[in-house]
Amino acid sequence: MPKALIMAGGKGERLWPLSRKSRPKQFARFFEKTFFQLTVERIAPLVGMENICVVTPEEYIPEIRREVPHLLEKNIFVEPMGKNTAPCIGLSALYLAKENPEEVMVVLPADHLIEKEEEFRRVVQFAFELAEEDRLVTLGIKPSHPHTGYGYIHFDGEYRTKDGLKAYKVLEFTEKPDLETARRFVAEGTYLWNSGMFVWKSRVILDEIKQYMPDLWQGLQEIARYLGTAKEENVKREVFSGLKSVSIDYGVMEKTQRAVVIPADLGWSDVGSWAALAELLEKDENGNLTFSKHLPIDSRGCAVFSKKPVVTLGTCDLVIVEDEDVIFVMPREKHQEVRKVLEKLEESE
Ligand code: GDD
Ligand code: MG
Repeated sequence: MPKALIMAGGKGERLWPLSRKSRPKQFARFFEKTFFQLTVERIAPLVGMENICVVTPEEYIPEIRREVPHLLEKNIFVEPMGKNTAPCIGLSALYLAKENPEEVMVVLPADHLIEKEEEFRRVVQFAFELAEEDRLVTLGIKPSHPHTGYGYIHFDGEYRTKDGLKAYKVLEFTEKPDLETARRFVAEGTYLWNSGMFVWKSRVILDEIKQYMPDLWQGLQEIARYLGTAKEENVKREVFSGLKSVSIDYGVMEKTQRAVVIPADLGWSDVGSWAALAELLEKDENGNLTFSKHLPIDSRGCAVFSKKPVVTLGTCDLVIVEDEDVIFVMPREKHQEVRKVLEKLEESE
């Protein structure tokens, strides 16, 4: 049975104050369930709970156990420290390959929202079949604007079709282009956003790491020698502390010749900002979120996230977020600048 690998170690702080260092985006309480819980529930019907694995630094394990108590102990892979997604995926592939190197896995970020869950599972099922042919399969999203925080996939030449779904060969993968390049990509119409979800066999991704990231490969070999021994944790720590932080996108996806992409219409969002989150939620006729106890009087475009009632009079396009120890207010258009708050707060500590 295919495995699901959920990457739950990111630091996402752009949704401060609800996401913080101690409680990153995947574990923050925007809704009744966290993004992490939603990610587990979305994939469980396809692979079964016993095949869901989570990779994370140690500090998040108590939270993970609390949120999803049915995760199997052996399916929690611990990174000694966060070194971005290439080491995180490499280490997990090592654990999975030990069981069965030819098994396919779907790699999932823990902090995204997907509206069309049935369609998501249909696409992943198709991806499982393509991964059996030793492909690196990506799920591509039709770009709506020139976002510079995403990977762009240049695709061409139909590779396979199934029940209305199509897969294409990836000509080129460009991670986080500059704005001018992103504009060109979006205008050309033959590019997709990388959703950050991947499907491949553990043996195949390890082969690609061997070819394109030899330092990481060496480190993984060292760890492999001590897997299951008393020295495993120490060796892992030593190896990881010497690794460079590199994402799988820069490390493998930009270089591989084996990638194919399935364009997928999933109602996908990586919820990268308060504005992006507000976009997804229901609004009244004046564009105010109906999400919380907000009483807007002559107000427009206000996104209020608060447990207490909030009354606004004659305000426009504000984001208001209440947390236990702080209330945050900003004009919506400043949504990409939340990092400034964090810098300021660190300064004042
Ligand atoms: N366990 C673990 N360890 N998880 C990690 C680590 C790590 O060191 N670093 C990141 N993650 C998790 C994050 O929690 C997130 O779920 C996922 O891996 C992706 O990391 P991000 O840091 O959010 O990447 P990104 O958003 O800049 O870019 C990626 O996603 C975009 C789509 O949202 C890339 O894959 C882009 O190409 C893609 O377009
Ligand atoms: Mg992200």
